[in-house]
Amino acid sequence: MSEIYHPPVLLDESISMLKAREGGIFVDATLGGGGHTEAILKANPKNRVIGIDRDEEAIERAIKRLEPYGDRVSIYHANFSQIGEVLEAEGIGEVNGVLFDLGVSHFHLRGERGFTVWKEQPLDMRMDRRQKLTARDVVNELSERELADVIFKYGQERFARKIAREIVRRRKEKPIETTTELAQIVEEVIPKKLWAGRKKHPAIKTFQAIRIFVNKEFEEIEKGIPSAAEFIKSGGRIVVITFHSLEDRLVKNILRSLQGFKVVTKKPIEPSPEEVRENPASRSAKLRAAEREE
Ligand SMILES: C[S@@+](CC[C@H](N)C(=O)[O-])C[C@H]1O[C@@H](n2cnc3c(N)ncnc32)[C@H](O)[C@@H]1O
Repeated sequence: MSEIYHPPVLLDESISMLKAREGGIFVDATLGGGGHTEAILKANPKNRVIGIDRDEEAIERAIKRLEPYGDRVSIYHANFSQIGEVLEAEGIGEVNGVLFDLGVSHFHLRGERGFTVWKEQPLDMRMDRRQKLTARDVVNELSERELADVIFKYGQERFARKIAREIVRRRKEKPIETTTELAQIVEEVIPKKLWAGRKKHPAIKTFQAIRIFVNKEFEEIEKGIPSAAEFIKSGGRIVVITFHSLEDRLVKNILRSLQGFKVVTKKPIEPSPEEVRENPASRSAKLRAAEREE
């Protein structure tokens, strides 16, 4: 797997669902390494892309990668909930499509910000490092009740209350600073017979929950997709790729609720077995899309 680029997930499917070969202006709301953006630019020489990402390292990499495309690309360091401000700054009133490829990137997981349970790193988990709140703050400062609610709501972790209780007990001895310390606490709480010998680390759900909370991921989706919808031309599309069931359910409901749109993916599109073989990180991806009717 490439160390240089985040392998873009459901790439051909995204291009087709965006109708990017037909030409137009597109927003890549989650620019990341720029893989989807580059494919949109290649799909039609007339295409323009406005790329948004909240992670400045992603922005720096994307600027380098997309340099050959000159003024066909504009790049913004922003949250995608700010899509309205971004398009206003560009003087654009309507676009042909907006892509959201949600979640963390390959670079986040390989980086040093504590996104993965598998490496010992400081508990950070911020996608945007201008933000103040870190995973360390969440783990050490939320009340037991708040922590339990976060872990349950965003991780669907049935041991949420016990994990929260143990975190609070342990942080009284000393602050919890690293991914490994947090992962070990979760390991101690969840009965070994439920996870021993399996590939999935027992703390994955807890990590997912804290990451979603730190980055206000669901608030961003709840605001970002309807804001994007306001700029879609008639016949244009919103395409969203999700990576876990909670996120997928949220997106499915938002797409269904958009006034003047019809959902064009009766069932979500999933990666082919070949894609999953080449890029195991794609295995949980689901793509949904909605089209403006009027
Ligand atoms: C899965 S990666 C996108 C990968 C990209 N499609 C590619 O092909 O390289 C998701 C990216 O979205 C960014 N992101 C997540 N939530 C965001 C938000 N609310 N606003 C802006 N960017 C966000 C992350 O920083 C990350 O770089």
